[in-house]
Amino acid sequence: MNFLDVRHLSVSFTQEQGSVQAVRDVSFSIDEGETLAVVGESGAGKSQVFHALLGLQAKNARVAGSAKLAGQELIGLPATQLNQYRGNALRIIFQDPMTALNPYLKIGVQLTEILQVHQGASYQQARTQALQALQEVKLPNPEWNFQQYPHELSGGMRQRVMIAMAILGHPRLIIADEPTTALDVTVQSDIISLLKKIHQQHGTSMVLITHDIPLVAGLCERIMMMYAGKIVETGTLQEIHQQARHPYTRALLQATPANQRNSGKLVSIAGQPPDPRQLPTGCAFAPRCEKARRQCQTAQPELTAVSDTQQVACFFAEEN
Ligand SMILES: Nc1ncnc2c1ncn2[C@@H]1O[C@H](COP(=O)(O)OP(=O)(O)O)[C@@H](O)[C@H]1O
Ligand SMILES: [Mg+2]
Repeated sequence: MNFLDVRHLSVSFTQEQGSVQAVRDVSFSIDEGETLAVVGESGAGKSQVFHALLGLQAKNARVAGSAKLAGQELIGLPATQLNQYRGNALRIIFQDPMTALNPYLKIGVQLTEILQVHQGASYQQARTQALQALQEVKLPNPEWNFQQYPHELSGGMRQRVMIAMAILGHPRLIIADEPTTALDVTVQSDIISLLKKIHQQHGTSMVLITHDIPLVAGLCERIMMMYAGKIVETGTLQEIHQQARHPYTRALLQATPANQRNSGKLVSIAGQPPDPRQLPTGCAFAPRCEKARRQCQTAQPELTAVSDTQQVACFFAEEN
């Protein structure tokens, strides 16, 4: 059985100007101990997929479909029960630690609370584990950092604190949502190495959400490409790098890392993703696709297997 099994997940938002289709019928699974990268441009729906299954979606969101964690349905679960999973089995690391850390509480208080609330640990037990976690993420002086407030730390150190929070009590799945986007390039690779070490030592399943394909290579075994709320291609790291079949994946691979990092966007792909309030009738990538033909304007390609591990949503996958 898959550890996480997502089936036909959709997320839409109701707004005065109409409805936004942020996630459109997405299905995928993650095995125990697996590392998956979710890659796509800003607005592709990457975060919304995982917010929905953690119950973190905005109030105007409508979530449909299923997401089972070790057989237990998460979609529609009451907040109190979802909180249990969020505290124990699943953790999320956000892009900007400043919005996820409480600026008024010392680091130590924020770390120990998690263990006291979710795992019923005593303060002493929680403190010992929190200090171990700070050591594991290689903060220079855990005892001292424990007493500090978030604003006293650098961006890279705050992201390490977020990772320390995520690993407390050894969750089975960590979702890292653009954990390095706000950081310098050198710090980025340190953070990825750290996540990799945690994965190797504890066998934690990981999802790395990013727009930066080169970053993924250090950590993930499998890549899932998202475009305009849909999965357009998925495959092993090797398949995606050596025989990507979706024109979008190919275009992203050609986008240089330097371009991506400097702008936070993929400047080398011409054009913009479609407006999620007015999606095209056919393939959502067709307006930007050099290979698009008439069929692409009128019908939507289904995600179809091209190998045991690779699936592509393109009418011309076999030719590419
Ligand atoms: N509360 C909301 N109301 C309306 N639209 C939203 C809301 N939150 C997110 N969206 C839209 O959902 C789409 C997907 O967003 P998101 O999952 O954050 O993209 P990504 O993480 O891939 O950058 C975007 O078009 C975004 O504008
Ligand atoms: Mg996002």
